[in-house]
Amino acid sequence: MNILAIVGSPHKKWGCTYRLTKRMLDECQSLGAETEIVLLQDYEINYCRGCGLCLVEGECPQKDDVKLIQGKMMEADGIVMASPVYVFHVTGLMKNFIDRCLPMGHRPSLHGKYAAAISVYLGVGDVEAVARYMLTFLMAQGAYPVGIVAALARNIIDVSEEDLEKAANLGREMVQAIKEKRTFSWENYVAKSKEFQALRKLILEGKDFFKKDYEYWKEKGWL
Ligand SMILES: Cc1cc2nc3c(=O)[nH]c(=O)nc-3n(C[C@H](O)[C@H](O)[C@H](O)COP(=O)(O)O)c2cc1C
Repeated sequence: MNILAIVGSPHKKWGCTYRLTKRMLDECQSLGAETEIVLLQDYEINYCRGCGLCLVEGECPQKDDVKLIQGKMMEADGIVMASPVYVFHVTGLMKNFIDRCLPMGHRPSLHGKYAAAISVYLGVGDVEAVARYMLTFLMAQGAYPVGIVAALARNIIDVSEEDLEKAANLGREMVQAIKEKRTFSWENYVAKSKEFQALRKLILEGKDFFKKDYEYWKEKGWL
């Protein structure tokens, strides 16, 4: 069992986000999982140029580390996305990575995987909504939503033992969900959502542009 965490804090290993993520993954490890933490700050991730080639031709023309990280996602059984709240949302680092995952969103391919999200803030804004945003990103691609941790940092580098325990709990839940092969009705939940229906309309009406998406959706029987 492989569990991958993607951390979008520029504070890297000394940040609260990392500490919570590490606690979660340590717990997974103690239950037999293999784990890896990707610190986005250590990778070359260019901005999305908005050219749309990933949709037309299937692949982004940029040569950086995005494909490497996406490959790790495809190999993992469980995926955790973690970001502090930066001005009411995920960090630019995390958002930039998510933007580059546009083709994964257009051609959902995380079915059979398990998703969790962690966010931490200093008390201003909606930390739960930020964690849910990352969870929804994974869930929309078919991953089973295990849960979130929304934590309150005590100061710039400290999180409470209570929040660390919540992270450990999420780790236990993640391993349990994978072991039990828990499933959710993606067809009922996501495929009926207005976002999915809007995407379907977009792909159907724009099939000459969204060629790869159209082929993929047709093959899946979603059109
Ligand atoms: C640019 C920036 C924007 C921030 N915006 C918010 C915010 O909107 N709400 C909040 O509660 N904390 C905000 N914070 C504080 C961080 O969320 C908080 O310090 C968090 O613990 C950082 O996690 P890290 O140590 O993993 O980077 C901001 C911090 C920075 C540097």
